[in-house]
Amino acid sequence: PVSDSAIIILGASGDLAKRKLIPALERLFQKKEIDDTCRVIGSGRTPFSHEEFRAHFNRDKEFSKLLYYHQGTEGIRDFIFSLREFRRVIIFFSLPPRVYAHTAAELHREGFRDETTLIIEKPFGYDLESARKLNADLQRYFHELQIFRIDHYLAKEAVQNILVFRFANAVFYPIWNSRYIESIQINALEDIGVEDRGAYFDGAGIIRDMVQNHLMQLLSLLTMEAPINLEAEEIRIQKMQILKALEVKRWAKMQYRGYHDEKGVPEDSKTETYAELEMTINNYRWTGIPIYVRTGKAVHRKGTEIGIRFKPGPHLLYNTEGQIPPNQIIFNIQPDAGIVMDFIAREPGGSGRISSTNMTFCYSSSFLDAEIPEAYQRLLLDAIRGDRTLFVSAEETELSWEKFTPTLQQETPGMYKRGALPPSPLGIDWIDFDKYGSTCRLD
Ligand code: BG6
Repeated sequence: PVSDSAIIILGASGDLAKRKLIPALERLFQKKEIDDTCRVIGSGRTPFSHEEFRAHFNRDKEFSKLLYYHQGTEGIRDFIFSLREFRRVIIFFSLPPRVYAHTAAELHREGFRDETTLIIEKPFGYDLESARKLNADLQRYFHELQIFRIDHYLAKEAVQNILVFRFANAVFYPIWNSRYIESIQINALEDIGVEDRGAYFDGAGIIRDMVQNHLMQLLSLLTMEAPINLEAEEIRIQKMQILKALEVKRWAKMQYRGYHDEKGVPEDSKTETYAELEMTINNYRWTGIPIYVRTGKAVHRKGTEIGIRFKPGPHLLYNTEGQIPPNQIIFNIQPDAGIVMDFIAREPGGSGRISSTNMTFCYSSSFLDAEIPEAYQRLLLDAIRGDRTLFVSAEETELSWEKFTPTLQQETPGMYKRGALPPSPLGIDWIDFDKYGSTCRLD
């Protein structure tokens, strides 16, 4: 287990600490991933005594003993080190992004140096310029290797499996390129609207909120070259190559009807809640292959899938009306994780017909008793251990912002009906993802 570490949550009276961070730390303690020489110190504006702070979370008694509270950041380092000598200090910014730079400066003034790890949440900037500024501000006080930027999509079990699928299974290696693949399709849908996050979301839009970060991470993992080993830096280098070669070719933005009535959204807002994009990766492996991405709020269901559609074989032997349905591999990322592979089989009997069927892998049936850790549990443990694999580098965020710059300009979005997936505004031949999304559902 990890020992002698102080885990500090700045903004500890907020919602994230209560909903995610403290429960995740409790679970890590129960699983003996962190031991009782560690301390979890909350800091915030609310005046709490240690006891009140512990009561606020109402967690397990043994775990609660690790909890302490310090109001504000002034004097926080002395306070922490008065608890005992810590080898490492992990500081989680559960704060509004606009105070990140200022807080880093304050921590530095307090005396935090090389023993410190900072964990920060998106948004990492608002566009290329602000992202560069934020990175430069943070790096003025802390080294890039001390800064852990969270992209919670990387902690999803089925996302971590993408590299394993590609690089531990020799059969897919020869076909993972433009010669055999016809298109790559990423589909990330949500049934809920912006709910109580209207004010934040309206300043962002779904390209900033989902595409520039989460979906580009998925795409990098899906298309990168094999790293020479699994060290975080080696993987990062390969992901960077993809982002460098990425080109956004076309996009369309839409907004659901009724979005203007959401709390915090101005009446004349032109912010997109749905986006569809066509991209390509200009490198030896992928040139010319379309990559389609779509994501939207307030559509008909929640689900994230990635589809790989293969080109037809060289010669048509079977007598089908029209074309043979393409071979496809679908990664079901969530909610019910698994992988489906479509292939063609002969229909039984004498009809001579062939049709599409599939092979399916579901986490729920293949790994029966496996506990899939919650994203924050995984991310906190990695950050505490200093493993950067699931975190995003400054360079990656900047490159990605650069590529999306043209798409960020305000345009008047098309409209779609709340609760329904709009017909493709770019006229893309989308895989019927609804068919696959529920393959692994446990009813
Ligand atoms: C967040 C976005 O980063 O990801 C939200 O800000 C979005 O708008 C969420 O709803 C989606 O995450 P998940 O894990 O529910 O797919």
